Amino acid sequence: MPAVNKICCIGAGYVGGPTCAVIALKCPHIQVTIVDLNKARIDAWNSPDFKLPIYEPGLEDVVRKARGRNLFFSTDVDKGIQDADLIFVSVNTPTKKSGVGAGFAADLNYVELATRRIAAVANSSKIVVEKSTVPCRTAESMRTILEANSKPNCRFDILSNPEFLAEGTAISDLFSPDRVLIGSLQTAEGKTACNALAEVYSNWVPTDRILTVGLWSSELSKLAANAMLAQRISSINALSAICEATGANIDEVANAVGYDSRVGPKFLRASVGFGGSCFQKDILNLVYLSESLHLPEVANYWKQVVIMNEYQKSRFSKTVVDTLFNTITGKRIAVLGFAFKADTGDTRESAAISLIRDFQSEKALVNIYDPQVEQEQIWADLAEASPATPLASIQKQVTICHSAIEACKNAEAVVIATEWKEFREIDWEAVYQGMNKPAFVFDGRLLVDAAKLRKIGFKVTVIGRGERV
Ligand code: NAD
Ligand code: UDX
Repeated sequence: MPAVNKICCIGAGYVGGPTCAVIALKCPHIQVTIVDLNKARIDAWNSPDFKLPIYEPGLEDVVRKARGRNLFFSTDVDKGIQDADLIFVSVNTPTKKSGVGAGFAADLNYVELATRRIAAVANSSKIVVEKSTVPCRTAESMRTILEANSKPNCRFDILSNPEFLAEGTAISDLFSPDRVLIGSLQTAEGKTACNALAEVYSNWVPTDRILTVGLWSSELSKLAANAMLAQRISSINALSAICEATGANIDEVANAVGYDSRVGPKFLRASVGFGGSCFQKDILNLVYLSESLHLPEVANYWKQVVIMNEYQKSRFSKTVVDTLFNTITGKRIAVLGFAFKADTGDTRESAAISLIRDFQSEKALVNIYDPQVEQEQIWADLAEASPATPLASIQKQVTICHSAIEACKNAEAVVIATEWKEFREIDWEAVYQGMNKPAFVFDGRLLVDAAKLRKIGFKVTVIGRGERV
C-alpha cells in the first residue's frame, strides 16, 4: 500500500473539523479536504475572517496556518471522495428517535449514506476509516455495502479509528493524545492499511501511543471509554447526594479517593450532571448492544449511569425550589452558563437545558447568560425541550442576557450551570447589590468561593456540600 497523500474527511463537525485540521497542520505533505453537505457549515469554515462554525480554543490558529495550504473545506463530497487515498467517515451518529431501538440505538443512517456515496463514486481503491462512534461490528456493515457496490479494480480496506478528544480541549488533545487507537482486520491487507494510517499519525504522535488492535475491539473500546468516564461522574454525583445529607464535603471525599493511584484524581468533579453529545448517547448505545446480545444484567448496569445523571439534574432543580421557600412561581432565576461545559459553544444534552425546563414548568422567570452560545441555539434547545409549549410563550418567561451582571439584576437566585472561568471572577458585590433579598446562589459546578460569597451576604448552596446559608 503506497503512503497516504490525499485525505478526505466526510463530516465537518466538532470531530471532523478539528481532527483533520490538525492532521493537515502536522502533515504538510498530505492534502486534506473536509467535505460536508451542510453549506452554511462549510462557508463558515472558509470564512475570510475565520468565524469558524465551532468555538474551540486554539482551533483558529491551526486553521489559519493550514487553510489554503494543504487544508480545504468543500461541499463537493463526490470530488473529495474520488481524489482521496484515505477517507475518514466522521458524520453524526445520534440516538435513534423512532423505529426499532428508539431512544437507545445509534442512528446509523448518516454513516450508511456516506458509505453508499463512497461506493457509488469511488473509482480507485480507498482506505475507509470509521471516525464516528459506532456500535460494535458497524465496520462489517460498511464493508458489505462497499463490496456489494464497488467497481472493478476498486478495493476498500476498512479501519476503525475512534476519536477521544474532548470539546474545549480538542486541539491540545489532538496535539498530544493519550493514545491513538486503530482497529483493522487481522489480515495482511488489513494490517497494511492500519500501518498506512499509523504512519500519518506518527508525524507527531509517539509510536508507543499508537495502539493497533482488532476492528471489534477498537469499536467497543470507544463505547467502553465513554461509559467508564461517565460512570465516574455518576459515582461522584451519587456520593455528592450523600455529602449533602451528612455534612461531608464532596471535594474532600473526591480528593481523598483520587489520591489512591489506582483510582486517580481526574474526572471526579461533582456537577449538576454530565452533558455533551457523547456520554449519554454512547452509554445508551452500549445498553442497546447489551440487550441485543441477551445480556440484560449488563444493560441494566450501564443504564444506571444515565439514570443517576437524570436524578442529579432533577435533584438540583428541586433543591432550588425547596430552598426558595418551596415556590419559584413568578421569581426571577439567573442561569449562568448554557453550554454543556466551559470553553465550548456546544449545548447538546447540556444540564442547563433540563434545569431551565424545570424552572419554566414551575412558572419562574429565567434570565440566561452564556459567553459563547448563540441566541438562536438557546431558543432552539428550549423549544425542543418543551415541544408542547409555543416558542412565544417560552420567550415570555425566558430572557437571554448579554452579561452575567445583567442576568442577575433583580433576580432572587443565581444558578451556576456551566463552569466558565468568568463566573468566578464577576463582581459578586455588584451582583449582590442588584439582586432581591435574600439573594441565593446555587453552585452546580463547585466554581465559586462560597465563604467569600457568604461574607457578602449571599445564601449559598453548593453541590455536594452539606452546609447551606
Ligand atoms: P457533528 O454533528 O458536529 O458533525 C457531523 C457532520 O457530518 C455534520 O456537519 C453533518 O452535516 C455531516 N454529515 C452527515 N452526513 C453526511 C453525509 N452523508 N455527507 C457529508 N456530510 C455529512 O458531529 P460530531 O460531534 O463531529 O460527531 C461526529 C461523530 O464523532 C459522532 O459519531 C460522535 O459520536 C463522534 N465523536 C464526537 C465527539 C465530540 O466531542 N463531539 C468526540 C468523539 C467522537
Ligand atoms: C467526552 C470524552 O471525555 C471524550 O474522550 C470523548 O471523545 C467525547 O466525550 P466531552 O463530552 O467533549 O468529551 O467533554 P468531557 O470533558 O468528557 O465532559 C463531559 C461532561 O461531563 C461535561 O458536561 C462536563 O462538565 C462533565 N464532567 C466532566 C463532570 O461533571 N465532572 C467531571 O469530573 C468531568
